[in-house]
Amino acid sequence: MGVFSAIARLKKEKNAIILAHYYQDPDIQDIADVIGDSLELARAAQKTQASIILFAGVHFMAEGAKILNPHCRVIIPDLKAGCSLASGCQPDAFRRFRARYPDHFVVSYINCSAAIKAQSDIICTSSNAVTIVNKIPRDRKIIFAPDKNLGAYVSRQTGRDMVLWQGTCIVHETFSLKKLIALKVMHPEALVLAHPECEPDILTHADIIGSTSHLLRTTVQHSAQTFIIATEPGIIHQMQKNAPHKTFIPLPGLDESCACNECPYMRLNTLEKIEQALRIGGPEITLPEDLRLQAQVALDKMLAWS
Ligand code: 13P
Ligand code: SF4
Repeated sequence: MGVFSAIARLKKEKNAIILAHYYQDPDIQDIADVIGDSLELARAAQKTQASIILFAGVHFMAEGAKILNPHCRVIIPDLKAGCSLASGCQPDAFRRFRARYPDHFVVSYINCSAAIKAQSDIICTSSNAVTIVNKIPRDRKIIFAPDKNLGAYVSRQTGRDMVLWQGTCIVHETFSLKKLIALKVMHPEALVLAHPECEPDILTHADIIGSTSHLLRTTVQHSAQTFIIATEPGIIHQMQKNAPHKTFIPLPGLDESCACNECPYMRLNTLEKIEQALRIGGPEITLPEDLRLQAQVALDKMLAWS
């Protein structure tokens, strides 16, 4: 039996749902029940009635699913699928950082561990970060963690001065400004779409900045025919499916000898690992209940505010 039919059979047999992020390989996107950005996937995880969620994404996303839907068994194809933003913000260091700003309201990007979520007042994603920060009373001082690029972007959009944890995404920080400018010269008609995890100099040259879903919607709705894509190129699969007559040019990283614009964590997942995870029911995401409950407060607040 081929891997596609084995996955379909196991999904049915085990009452499992596959949630996949846009940065997954095209084949994984094609077998998923739900594809989306971080916010859409968190909402799908919260409301599913399935017995098992297989999260084809990275660890913090699967952990978020477990926090929001504790009765569901949440499994992940590869436990090593981490995230540079999550691993760059460790709980003890973050506790010491927060202690320096005791009166600050703590906004954490969803790309962090449950232990960081539990230390936060509210969580945000790239699609609702500006809305959420705008809702915080003007007299409250704010810490934003762990992505300094998203934080600086939100700060510019909202006019709020925020203390930023100095984390970065190893994928989005790698985009080359020189190559972006060269591509703009070659394709003057192209619209530049960028994720807010990119460095400020890339964002300065972008026409549209937003979450993966926002960028995808733009390629469908905008009259432009050519787009330069400054985010993980996995998203281009959906862009091509939704607007097959349009042209999508991925922005390369600084070093063209590697595919460093691809997320090495997201790309650890494969169809074979998904099939195995469904078959054996693991690796499973588990969390101590007190930590889960603390993290849920901040995640629930995000869902209520957005
Ligand atoms: P969004 O899909 O929410 O825009 O997030 C991008 C990302 O970096 C996920 O790891
Ligand atoms: Fe983390 Fe960046 Fe990979 Fe997203 S693309 S999972 S932010 S390392």
